[in-house]
Amino acid sequence: PSKPPTVFHWLPIIGSAVGYGNDPLNFFLACREKYGDVFTFILFGRRVTVALGAKGNNFVLGGKSTVLNAEDAYTHLTTPVFGKDVVYDVPNEKFMEQKRFVKVGLSTENLRAYVGMIEDEVEEYMNNDANFRVYGMNDINDWGMFDVVSVLQEITILTASRTLQGKEVRSKLDKTFSQLYNDLDGGFTPLNFLFPNLPLESYRRRDRANVKMTEFYVDIIQKRRQAGADSDHDMIAALIKQTYRDGTPLKDHEIAHILIALLMAGQHTSSATGSWALLHIAENPDVGEALYQEQVKYFGTPDGNLRSMTYEELRELPVLDAVIRETLRLHPPIHSIMRYVRDDVSVPPSLAAPSKDGVFVVPKGHYVLASPSVSQMDPRVWMDAQRFDVSRWTDPDGVAAQAFKAYADENGEKIDYGFGAVSKGTESPYQPFGAGRHRCIGEQFAYLQLGTLISTMIRKVELRLKDPVPAHNYHTMIVMPKKPRTILYRRRKF
Ligand code: HEM
Repeated sequence: PSKPPTVFHWLPIIGSAVGYGNDPLNFFLACREKYGDVFTFILFGRRVTVALGAKGNNFVLGGKSTVLNAEDAYTHLTTPVFGKDVVYDVPNEKFMEQKRFVKVGLSTENLRAYVGMIEDEVEEYMNNDANFRVYGMNDINDWGMFDVVSVLQEITILTASRTLQGKEVRSKLDKTFSQLYNDLDGGFTPLNFLFPNLPLESYRRRDRANVKMTEFYVDIIQKRRQAGADSDHDMIAALIKQTYRDGTPLKDHEIAHILIALLMAGQHTSSATGSWALLHIAENPDVGEALYQEQVKYFGTPDGNLRSMTYEELRELPVLDAVIRETLRLHPPIHSIMRYVRDDVSVPPSLAAPSKDGVFVVPKGHYVLASPSVSQMDPRVWMDAQRFDVSRWTDPDGVAAQAFKAYADENGEKIDYGFGAVSKGTESPYQPFGAGRHRCIGEQFAYLQLGTLISTMIRKVELRLKDPVPAHNYHTMIVMPKKPRTILYRRRKF
């Protein structure tokens, strides 16, 4: 059997690192032209076999974890940041138990409790002139401006700590915590992925921050344990009560490390998605208006105000849902999902094959890579693939939705127009949250956090764009908008 074709490159070890690193989407598209849906490129000595399209996603995300392994691909990046004995530092079966524990913390009952808290945080943030006035707002009728990423990063950590992380963390979101967080974050970069151990100050700061952050959480956990069972709706309260199948409870440092992992998993993904969403809303005033009218329709009161929403109501807002979905289609925060190949694995001929009767085999020691970005912006699947078009999701009879339906029917895919994912299977062109055993468990929380944030903002302000929607910056772990990322806003008059 043959191996998948290798992407041509001039530099032996570095390989295609520059092309991939600067713009993975266009790098993959250019490779697809030459080599088809499956090819291998060299990334600083690693051999990475890319599998594109819905079938490629299925090959990578639906694979057995004993063959296509996530721990081996990620642990050198994540374990120094999260800490030991959790996530990719433990065998997959143990991590699956930990994921189950986290799901308890993300129960519907907890999510219900979060809507009001997030609303409060966003309102408080927006009412604090210091947060917005610094960006140039003077008179109440003026257009002010703000850097969307800075604002979203602040709101995301405020809302995540108020809800999931718990009141102690929220009350200690001071300079010390921010510094620790920044030091950890500085160790969660593509450089850390490529080179696990460099004698750099940022690596040492990352390691020190992990120790300090662990102490910070362990202290909170111990105080909670001493206080006895509590009724908080947060992750610490949920995790304290969990036991592994063999009867052992979670240890304090494991709870601490899970909390760090959740902080890292949710912070950039949500703040990036929120930033892109607001940029597109600002770019399309009609979308902003539709969102506002949706709020008025569902939550308007006879005296002309807007009342608070519940979690159930939030899930039933079609325009809001479509805005988040379409944002995640064009800007999936994670552009490359990787696994380490522990055993030779053959590529299904329906995905790619060297000849009519042949199969490609990806050898042990390679990495495999799926890219939601490629399948989510594939012109073969989506009409006007590059365009932000909410009607794809709001109007099942519209041309964009019909085009997608035609694709789905032809490929035997089921489309669900309800809240949440398009399809739960591993073979789908739309997978911002991944699929299979490693699928995201933060999706509902992210929709809730983003939905409440966007609604609360839209109730208060109109948004416009100063410059075109920025290009993607792929140099960070999570795809961010390049600078400038300025949004103009004006407070609504009631
Ligand atoms: C896994 C995306 C928010 C926790 C994943 C994966 C993706 C993803 C693509 C699969 C990774 C892989 O297969 O290698 C996103 C996006 C988010 C988001 C787009 C927001 C818009 C969150 C939040 C949390 C979270 C808020 C926590 C509260 C996790 C966890 C996993 C995961 C625990 C499982 C990793 C595994 O099983 O290997 N996410 N995520 N995510 N995410 Fe998220």
